[in-house]
Amino acid sequence: MTRKIKTVAVVGAGYMGGGIAQVLANGGMSVVIADVSKEATQHNFERLLREAGEFEQQGLFPKGTEANVKANLRAAVTIEEAVANVDFVEEAVPEIPAIKAAVFERICSAARPDAIIGTNTSTLPVHTLVPYVTNPERFLTVHFSNPAPFIPGVELVCGEATTQDVVDAVKDMLARANRSSATVADRPGFVLNRLQYVLLKEANSIVEEGIATPEDVDTIVRSTFGFRLPFFGPFAIADMAGLDVYANCFKTFESAFGERMATPELLKSLVAAGKFGTKSGEGFSGKFEPEQLAALIAYRNKAYARMAQLLDDLGPSPIARK
Ligand SMILES: NC(=O)c1ccc[n+]([C@@H]2O[C@H](COP(=O)([O-])OP(=O)(O)OC[C@H]3O[C@@H](n4cnc5c(N)ncnc54)[C@H](O)[C@@H]3O)[C@@H](O)[C@H]2O)c1
Repeated sequence: MTRKIKTVAVVGAGYMGGGIAQVLANGGMSVVIADVSKEATQHNFERLLREAGEFEQQGLFPKGTEANVKANLRAAVTIEEAVANVDFVEEAVPEIPAIKAAVFERICSAARPDAIIGTNTSTLPVHTLVPYVTNPERFLTVHFSNPAPFIPGVELVCGEATTQDVVDAVKDMLARANRSSATVADRPGFVLNRLQYVLLKEANSIVEEGIATPEDVDTIVRSTFGFRLPFFGPFAIADMAGLDVYANCFKTFESAFGERMATPELLKSLVAAGKFGTKSGEGFSGKFEPEQLAALIAYRNKAYARMAQLLDDLGPSPIARK
């Protein structure tokens, strides 16, 4: 049976921790926050209640959100008071190992020995933080994305000792808060930031090489492959485009940019086995049944048409250049 997380402490109630506390309180958990001082905690507490009300009034959150957050969120005087006797503690203090280490020591000294402890670190591998945590079987990364009240995905990163019942309990809590989650291995940057930073690095190179301006790079990303990303990840996109096509394109990249853009082994082996994606019935995403393909095309077309309507309705972002 999955352990049920009912009570939560969020330590570090700034930009991310505050949003996380709001999301979990709105999801029905009883949440307490603690920041660097009593005053900072109170200031963030008032901000979070005010924002929940504003988001509801703006129609961004459903009716009842403000009342939910008010009923389920409270401010603690100290970290020790916040974490005593909760089922789950989420750490969201600055990405500075020394600060995280000191905070983990305080959390572990006051929390129940079986309380699950999550860290919202963006990049630090779990194994580098494990030395600061007692009972590491209850420790993992629970990485929310910015802005936490609005972005649904959460990355989970397990340490060597993290047990499955801990992962299951966190997944169950996130699902109750309307969040989706995926578990990945313990490497710096995990999946989200590794991919995001590669994109930013390559975008920088493109600008430095004089190929395009930052504005034009942003326009191309938003209006071409970025347009697909809310619906499909890179593997599903490649499956729909054709893996044989991708394999040919990688040859051009490899001759221009060398080994770092060589055809990936996984792609090579699929193509060698005649698995070209949707067109051959099998690809990165496994096998496709013929009736699934028709449904996929219909879904894709509808998704992109709706995306175009949404962008039309919203208009350009305030920083878009004419
Ligand atoms: N900002 C992002 O886009 C983003 C996204 C995902 C993950 N993260 C990660 O989330 C964590 C927090 O980042 P943030 O953007 O919310 O930073 P932030 O500066 O907005 O918030 C950090 C909070 O921690 C508090 N704090 C500092 N020292 C403390 C202590 N000793 N005890 C208790 N509280 C203390 C600060 O007062 C502040 O309120 C970092 O690990 C960061 O890498 C950030």
